[in-house]
Amino acid sequence: MDYRVAPAVRIAGRCRVPGDKSISHRAVMLAALAQGESRFDGFLAGADTLATAAAFRAMGVAIDGPQDGSVRVQGVGLHGLQPPAGALDMGNAGTGMRLLAGLLAGQRFGVTLTGDESLSRRPMARVIGPLRQMGADLAAEEGDTPPLVLRPVAQLRGIDYALPMASAQVKSCLLLAGLYAQGQTCVTEPAPTRDHTERMLAAFGWPVTRQRGRVCITGGRGSLQATQFSIPGDISSAAFPLVAAVIAAQGEVLIEGVGVNPTRTGILDILRAMGADITLLNPRDAGAEPVADIRVRASRLRGIAVPPELVPLAIDEFPAIAVAAACAQGQTLITGAAELRVKESDRIAAIASGLGMLGITVETLPDGLRIEGGQFRGGTVDSHGDHRIAMAFSLAALRAPEPVRIRDCVNVGTSFPGYTVLMRGLGLEIEEA
Ligand code: S3P
Repeated sequence: MDYRVAPAVRIAGRCRVPGDKSISHRAVMLAALAQGESRFDGFLAGADTLATAAAFRAMGVAIDGPQDGSVRVQGVGLHGLQPPAGALDMGNAGTGMRLLAGLLAGQRFGVTLTGDESLSRRPMARVIGPLRQMGADLAAEEGDTPPLVLRPVAQLRGIDYALPMASAQVKSCLLLAGLYAQGQTCVTEPAPTRDHTERMLAAFGWPVTRQRGRVCITGGRGSLQATQFSIPGDISSAAFPLVAAVIAAQGEVLIEGVGVNPTRTGILDILRAMGADITLLNPRDAGAEPVADIRVRASRLRGIAVPPELVPLAIDEFPAIAVAAACAQGQTLITGAAELRVKESDRIAAIASGLGMLGITVETLPDGLRIEGGQFRGGTVDSHGDHRIAMAFSLAALRAPEPVRIRDCVNVGTSFPGYTVLMRGLGLEIEEA
């Protein structure tokens, strides 16, 4: 399925984006391991998070929904999961696979985790190494790529681990393994990353201690207690209507109920530094997470050097930020972002090739991009099967004199079901072809 997007000048209206993907994965995982029935609404009914729900159903967890975003999970307790009949297919989801690797490493049964073509190329050494230090028995393909085969072990032990890269997935993997480990598991990060696991563990009643870049839990005993909460809209999905409104000739959009956890709001800081008119309205809490409505208006942008400390706080937003940078006056420099090479695609290469196809001057760096603001032309961009590359380049049509076509957009359904309908409602002339 391709997108065909015709030029348009005005982006306006109100919208709500689908629930946060990171929080939706974690909600199912912790609810499954809790005692009692958990309920949440706002769950992302995307392919990635549905794969996580299917994995827990395959391990004997009763899950109702999602129905209009509402989910009920009958928790089986920390030791209540059952061996699945076959391999667990995590689809396109790095988060699903890496977090489950940790959660399942301490079970009393073996399990195999598989994924689609993109996930099967993604590096798993980052979780295999520390999990083995904890005593886990797991194997992968040559090159440490999936499938991951976990075999049962008698008991994991806690470790004190310094992450070599800023990764919330690795941090979360080890904290979830830490639930089953004897003693304390501590993870130190080189830079702050999303802290949804820490917040949610606390919400399910499991003590977590946090001290400047270091998080610890004590495992081996205790229980998670079922709870209820609302999952906020995903700021990583809000990024697309947000950038659309910023770069349109005329734009004003209100995106309601977006999660604004400070470990996720790097995109707001980066776009504001570029001159974007963004205001947070009606700040409030949804369970353990802060939420606000985001008002954004068409703005004249200027290129900046993105501060490297903001990179982990905006790690999934660089496809959209790159499109904004192409519309800015002057040069934008992104560095310290080598992790973009191992996302759903090599996003440094995919962004550069897409911008180049649409007439923008761009240079790739080992750890980032240098983008010269300019004028988009029409053309065809390959999404490389990457949902965020597909959505980001659909916005280029707002600044191009001819239509833009994006190839292979089916994976948008992993994170943003209903994308074309929502964006058409705001004025983007987008069709599925
Ligand atoms: C995620 C962490 C990030 C992010 C991914 C979701 C998470 O990955 O890119 O989309 O939910 O923990 P890394 O931990 O690999 O940076």
